Amino acid sequence: MKKILKWTGGILGILLFFAVGTAFYLSNTAQNRLAKKYEVQPKSIQIPSDSASIEAGQKWVSVLCTNCHGENLAGTKFFDSPDLGTISAPNLTPGGAGKNYTDLDWDRALRHGVAKDNRPLLIMPSKDFQYMSDEHVGQIISYLKTLRPVEQSWEPPKTKFLCNVLFQVGAFGDALNAETIDHAKPAHYAPQRAATAEYGKYLVKVSGCRTCHGPQLNGGKDPNPEAPMGPNLSPGGSLPSWGAEGFVKTMRTGVTPLGKEINGKFMPWKEIGHYDEDQLKAIYAYLMAQPSLATAEIKN
Ligand code: HEC
Ligand code: HEC
Repeated sequence: MKKILKWTGGILGILLFFAVGTAFYLSNTAQNRLAKKYEVQPKSIQIPSDSASIEAGQKWVSVLCTNCHGENLAGTKFFDSPDLGTISAPNLTPGGAGKNYTDLDWDRALRHGVAKDNRPLLIMPSKDFQYMSDEHVGQIISYLKTLRPVEQSWEPPKTKFLCNVLFQVGAFGDALNAETIDHAKPAHYAPQRAATAEYGKYLVKVSGCRTCHGPQLNGGKDPNPEAPMGPNLSPGGSLPSWGAEGFVKTMRTGVTPLGKEINGKFMPWKEIGHYDEDQLKAIYAYLMAQPSLATAEIKN
């Protein structure tokens, strides 16, 4: 009996040794990924300064940025956990990043997911923004340059040991977008603006609908563990019965034609609802042009 106990104790000890070793190895690898420097030199694009472009830029920002960087773009605490760490979406006004950011720096952050100091940005969804056209990125930058300073500062991201381990095993999905973006790829063009599936395809891409509704849009899951499932947006889901008008109304009010209230904490309907009517109709046209798929099975 004593012998057996000694044996199992020994084996458990060896297992523990390897488990701790593996965790340290994972955390270390994660830290190396976070500390890697990306030398990315975006090609210079034209930044307009006319009021129509600035207004168009404000529109893009209200759909694509305020959810994380805050209504006034002075930043928000995106993630805060005593066990895992803190990540803030920082202040973009001249009270923060805007003070030192050049036109190229904005583009580097937006379409490459790389900060001014060449480190890869966490969470910032550049994997979607990389598809934006030079014209639309120019509009966004033209607007960001008009922001008035709001004094508010945020700590740089702090990730703890456990967070690094989880990040390394992929629990947070594609959190460092700079790793997967092809930084040498030429910029994209945008299709002609109209209520067409082609233009809708562009909007669905840059708005990141697939992050939460799945690669085929037939249901998916935000990496945020608290988030409910993103429903099936293909014709296999409930959208065909809504019609384009019903879809537009849902994005404006947060209530579906079936009377279901959409949780704005997990589905950014308020922000998406800032798109103009022709843009929302384009998104709907694109969704309805997808193959009719059964709802994907998502393991939570
Ligand atoms: C899903 C949340 C999210 C959205 C949406 C988002 N960002 Fe970010 N962004 C972040 C986070 C988080 C960081 C900080 C990452 C870090 O420091 O590693 C960040 C960082 C940045 C930075 C770098 C700032 C600095 O201090 O160096 C810029 C610039 C930026 N975002 C601009 C934008 C713009 C413009 C948009 C809209 C087109 C946008 N972001 C949309 C989450 C988001
Ligand atoms: C951050 C994750 C996230 C993003 C990005 C996102 N969604 Fe959602 N969406 C959700 C979640 C989660 C729900 C379910 C909310 C609930 O149950 O209250 C939802 C619900 C919906 C619904 C209601 C569907 C139904 O059958 O009730 C529609 C329509 C929708 N989203 C469209 C879109 C479109 C179009 C985009 C891109 C322009 C988009 N969503 C981007 C997470 C997201």
